[in-house]
Amino acid sequence: MIAGYQQRCQARVDAALEPLFHAPRTDLQPLYAAMRYSVFNGGKRIRPLLVYAACEALEGQPQQADAAACAVELIHAYSLVHDDLPAMDDDDLRRGQPTTHKAFDEATAILAGDALQSLAFEVLADPQLNAHEAETRLAMLGSLSRAAGPAGMVGGQAIDLGAVGKQLDQQALEQMHRHKTGALIEASVVLGALASGKADPVSLKALQRYAAAIGLAFQVQDDILDVESDTATLGKRQGADIARDKPTYPALLGMPAAKAYALELCEQALHALRPLGSSAEALRDLARFIVQRRS
Ligand code: IPE
Ligand code: IPE
Ligand code: MG
Ligand code: MG
Ligand code: MG
Repeated sequence: MIAGYQQRCQARVDAALEPLFHAPRTDLQPLYAAMRYSVFNGGKRIRPLLVYAACEALEGQPQQADAAACAVELIHAYSLVHDDLPAMDDDDLRRGQPTTHKAFDEATAILAGDALQSLAFEVLADPQLNAHEAETRLAMLGSLSRAAGPAGMVGGQAIDLGAVGKQLDQQALEQMHRHKTGALIEASVVLGALASGKADPVSLKALQRYAAAIGLAFQVQDDILDVESDTATLGKRQGADIARDKPTYPALLGMPAAKAYALELCEQALHALRPLGSSAEALRDLARFIVQRRS
């Protein structure tokens, strides 16, 4: 089911993203080209999928979730452009192609990342693109900006860079992963729920528990794949964490325990969804996909 669902959601979010990348002036063409390159270079679109699936779980319609799906992917794309910069992970390959600073230059990559981030909030704020009441748009903006900022993803990236070459205990590693990756994944689910217009407190709590578990599981699996996969499958350099002496779950727990932990988190996520019925099936499939994926 996941492949068909993924294709449908990908086509949907890509169609909603496409019009955002037309340069309004010729002298802005290089900037817009770098932004477009960073978004339309392959990518699993997991976060938009989570937005659509969470909206569907609460019986919302996909078109209600298009703006939120665009916004989370724009934040994600920006985070990858900056994550790959020489001052951060210094990677030259992303989604099987040169990273944005290699395809363009560093200054353009920094600006493209900045622009993608701003655009995410612009899309959520715009009533033409995000046709919800002001209160819902504000809730979405609050949720996404917290998740992306210093108390969320950017904070996680700061912890990550500060931890290079250091031994973290499991609690510290978990904190790092929950911030740098978990926060945006949680926001994707919350935004999807808000987009449905039917986010009652009980369902929202269940969805948040689900999202916290898969958010952490996603980064545990990313760490596992860095060791076990290969560069061609991943589309990014295999072994990059080891080469840079990054603290990861396989390094801390050993590979069998890291894999068992990812599966345990998936079970926690499925358990959290028990109050929701068959409308949450896509979310259940996504939880399994996150820990079974090979790229
Ligand atoms: C990679 O995310 C970065 C992390 C947060 C671990 P994805 O694995 O979702 O990357 P794409 O979008 O599919 O390339
Ligand atoms: C990236 O984590 C997390 C964010 C971009 C916020 P990683 O550094 O592990 O991601 P990859 O492995 O380069 O995709
Ligand atoms: Mg990184
Ligand atoms: Mg990286
Ligand atoms: Mg990684």
